[in-house]
Amino acid sequence: MPTVNSESPKRRFFARLVRNWVSLVGAILVVSSWFAFFLLLTLDFFAPNKNPYLGILTYLVAPLFFLVGLILMGIGGLLQRRQNARAVAGAPPTRFSIDVSRPRDRRLLLGFAVGGAVFLLLTSVGSYQTYHVTESVQFCGQACHTPMKPQFVAYQNSPHARVDCTRCHIGPGAKRFVQAKYNGIHQLFATLSDDFKRPIHKTERIHINQQTCEQCHWPKRFIGNLDRTYTHFLADETNTAFSVRLLLKVGGADPTHGPVGGIHWHMNVANKIEYIATDEQRQVIPWVRLTDTNGGSTEYRTASFKEDPAAHTIRTMDCLDCHNRPAHHFRAPNDAVDLTLAAGRIDAAIPLVKSNVVAALTGGYSTEADALQKIASFLSAKYPDQPKAAALIDEVQRLYQANFFPEMKADWRAYPNNLGHKEWPGCFRCHDGLHKTADGKTKIQASDCNSCHVILAQGNGEQLEKLNPKGYSFFHIDAINEDFSCNNCHTGAFPKE
Ligand code: HEC
Ligand code: HEC
Ligand code: HEC
Ligand code: HEC
Ligand code: HEC
Ligand code: HEC
Repeated sequence: MPTVNSESPKRRFFARLVRNWVSLVGAILVVSSWFAFFLLLTLDFFAPNKNPYLGILTYLVAPLFFLVGLILMGIGGLLQRRQNARAVAGAPPTRFSIDVSRPRDRRLLLGFAVGGAVFLLLTSVGSYQTYHVTESVQFCGQACHTPMKPQFVAYQNSPHARVDCTRCHIGPGAKRFVQAKYNGIHQLFATLSDDFKRPIHKTERIHINQQTCEQCHWPKRFIGNLDRTYTHFLADETNTAFSVRLLLKVGGADPTHGPVGGIHWHMNVANKIEYIATDEQRQVIPWVRLTDTNGGSTEYRTASFKEDPAAHTIRTMDCLDCHNRPAHHFRAPNDAVDLTLAAGRIDAAIPLVKSNVVAALTGGYSTEADALQKIASFLSAKYPDQPKAAALIDEVQRLYQANFFPEMKADWRAYPNNLGHKEWPGCFRCHDGLHKTADGKTKIQASDCNSCHVILAQGNGEQLEKLNPKGYSFFHIDAINEDFSCNNCHTGAFPKE
């Protein structure tokens, strides 16, 4: 019978690591986690849509199991050494051996073989299944439940509700891929340690740009004019309806598919518009440079901006500078209420309902539960004898849950929408008539009320049938208004007088 002494010290060391049950469990873990790691790695590389959370599994969870396996093997080895040391001197040291003639060993061995096979199978099925889970929109929106709930809810109400989060949030290319992996892991830790800003904002590290959108949208498509009607209700006793019907000149940007011009002229490949924003949300743009087809460039700036542009970050304008909330648009309370009133989900015959609902939505609440309860008591107090009060409360609570997230301080105030100019500066960040060339003679074109749209009709009832193809001057409630400072008064809730 060979003794331990006949083995070299190196062999003895390795022998200790595998020759006991604890070490064997460790070894199985090590092998399976390697297996899972490579499977996940392959999936991760060949998957059509990249997913940041898969990275957590591949680079965090699988190695963790690997480490636990190694530690178990180590512990097993130590136990074995202690046992050997304790053995009566002179007696042959107890050795780990499997003897199939011993029933105990047969049972253990069978248990191990079956257990090991099942574990390996589960690891592969498990990692494949987990891959699918992390791919899903549900995972992105719900795994990090609290921090991303606002974006998830807004997304489900957006035109992109059927587009996977990963299609927009992970850019193409190896660098973006590694960045996304890093961000995913970073976000996991931030969520676990409750260390994130409220509200959250996209960092500069996550790149969503024109190429993201161009995966699906053909930038040169000729869109032409879009006919849009915006229906509003005043905050008066009878909730007077007031609509504006606009013909938006979206136009196109490719001469082979239609006339070049209009709003989408900006994204004509031959035009380059650069700008400087002085705040993080890019709401203040004091400097703009246009480089045209012939390479000639024109600089525009506001009177108060005297600095050297080179001292600032110069950005190139793309889709996101107008369409900055394509998937997560938090409606301002004024617009949210107008939309439900127009859709008939709230009865416009209820006196003062517009005004009361806006007040109910903007009450300033600490949690969603607090808000729902206080909205109900506020509206019941306003309408004690109104038979439709219960339905009204239901609808207002629904509106609140779709657009307000007090736990994350997320609502329209935190996320400006740059597409128009009523509640946020939007287009007027540049097209306000105040951005001029150095000689002060030329301002940015399209800085009058008819360049971007014509008002086909406005008012209510029969007035809306009197179309004017040349466009009306904007009749603002009780007087003509062609003033560019809409968002000075219109802040999303009650406008200032
Ligand atoms: C159509 C493209 C698109 C899709 C699909 C999309 N997002 Fe976004 N998302 C954006 C853009 C663009 C921004 C940045 C807005 C900005 O910086 O103003 C953004 C921002 C965010 C932010 C930062 C906070 C904010 O609101 O600015 C989070 C969090 C987020 N998205 C999560 C998600 C999740 C979760 C999903 C899937 C449920 C998803 N997104 C799907 C385009 C998309
Ligand atoms: C994976 C494909 C995909 C990507 C990426 C994508 N979109 Fe879309 N987008 C769609 C589809 C599909 C629709 C049409 C929805 C419909 O008509 O119901 C749409 C609709 C739109 C609309 C019209 C919305 C409306 O109110 O009717 C705009 C604007 C838009 N996308 C802008 C963007 C921008 C900006 C980006 C880049 C951040 C982007 N999209 C990225 C697929 C995509
Ligand atoms: C200068 C601002 C601006 C830029 C830049 C811009 N758009 Fe638009 N886009 C608009 C406006 C305004 C509309 C009309 C909005 C509406 O429907 O109310 C629009 C409409 C659209 C629509 C909807 C068309 C439809 O038939 O309903 C799509 C899709 C779209 N844009 C995609 C893009 C993509 C993709 C890019 C970048 C390649 C882009 N836009 C760049 C302002 C812009
Ligand atoms: C970062 C600044 C900036 C923003 C923001 C911006 N534009 Fe422009 N836009 C320009 C510049 C610069 C020009 C070129 C003007 C010139 O030639 O003098 C232009 C040109 C235009 C034109 C004229 C195109 C033509 O046919 O000549 C239209 C229409 C237009 N913009 C609409 C919009 C709309 C609508 C928005 C908001 C959704 C918007 N712009 C936002 C900078 C901007
Ligand atoms: C640079 C382009 C541009 C200029 C200049 C411009 N608008 Fe607009 N306007 C827009 C766009 C784009 C929208 C649509 C926003 C959207 O789709 O939500 C809009 C929407 C509107 C609306 C409907 C808003 C609502 O929510 O009911 C009114 C009213 C309006 N504009 C009036 C004016 C008046 C008055 C002027 C002149 C002082 C003016 N616009 C100048 C681009 C422009
Ligand atoms: C001096 C402040 C002020 C300015 C500037 C202003 N508004 Fe208003 N606006 C109001 C007030 C007050 C009301 C009445 C609100 C009510 O009774 O609900 C109103 C009502 C409206 C309404 C209908 C009701 C609603 O809440 O949407 C529209 C649309 C509108 N304004 C668009 C504009 C546009 C577009 C501009 C810029 C061209 C503009 N306003 C500039 C104060 C202003």
